[in-house]
Amino acid sequence: PSSLTAPVTASHAGLGSAHGKAILIGEHAVVYGAPAIVLPLLDLQAAASVREAKTATITSDLYTGPISQAPAMMAPIIRAGQAAAERVDLRPDRLEVIVRSTIPYERGLGSSAAVSAAIVRAVANAGGVRLSPAETHALVQEAEQIAHGTSSGLDGHAVQSLTPLRFQAGKPTTVKVAERMTFVIADTGTSGSTSSAVNGVRMLRTVLPEAVERMTRDLTEVVEDSADALAVGDAPRLGRNMNAAHRHLARIGVSSPALDALVAVALEAGAYGAKLTGSGLGGCVLALAPSLEVAGDLAAAMTSVGATRVWTTSLVPTTPTTHTA
Ligand code: MEV
Repeated sequence: PSSLTAPVTASHAGLGSAHGKAILIGEHAVVYGAPAIVLPLLDLQAAASVREAKTATITSDLYTGPISQAPAMMAPIIRAGQAAAERVDLRPDRLEVIVRSTIPYERGLGSSAAVSAAIVRAVANAGGVRLSPAETHALVQEAEQIAHGTSSGLDGHAVQSLTPLRFQAGKPTTVKVAERMTFVIADTGTSGSTSSAVNGVRMLRTVLPEAVERMTRDLTEVVEDSADALAVGDAPRLGRNMNAAHRHLARIGVSSPALDALVAVALEAGAYGAKLTGSGLGGCVLALAPSLEVAGDLAAAMTSVGATRVWTTSLVPTTPTTHTA
């Protein structure tokens, strides 16, 4: 029994993980105050292991070596690790970090936020500290500000949530889902830099403020109507809203010929709706399938016009909570 009551001591080694995400609707507009709805992609995972060492090193698919010589594109996740180390009183210059991720890099599927969250959780675990989701989010956000230019904070919540979220003005809330909805995600095989896309929209806003204001206003309506469509299980209406969202995003310049081609072929193959997902310029398309069978057709059609990878994901109905007096 004495061992059961022994104090918990930090092992100075820890593990952490987080998952990918796909924005159903509202990307970019969410940076300017509109709501957005995001889906968890639980099959795409980032995992990190951390332990104290003589010097700071990182091992990853993109780079392996001293943290001091890591390429600039790793600056966000390194910042997340340092911020977490400071928070849990570990020395950031004495941490060996190993990261593995099945979330494709720069495809709008939450890779940067998930890798940062995995590292933050591993560092906290190594320091013997249990961080709340909000505290983890705050540390991930330090990295996201570097990765996105201006980050709405959406991704840092999405990669930690097992259920879909509605997000607005920094606050995540739950989304009601009445019927199962099946989506196909297809990768153009080209990367989309979030910071370039977000900065592009910010520049457009300085020269043509009304274009970005209109997009934010229109997408607010589209997102609200989509939340309602999910709550009543109206997949055709959700699909029409996804099509409208893609048109709004294309108008502000964040689509690409490859994204437009995948959207067009998905609609021809029977999707209720299809749109780019994430920051755009490259990355992925999200299509809503009327059934699991049609999901296979959509995947095949998008692969035939160049999609390099496809994934299927489903939203399952939320169970109504029963309250007792
Ligand atoms: C990136 O996943 C989503 C954007 O809306 C940027 C952000 O919300 O920070 C493009």
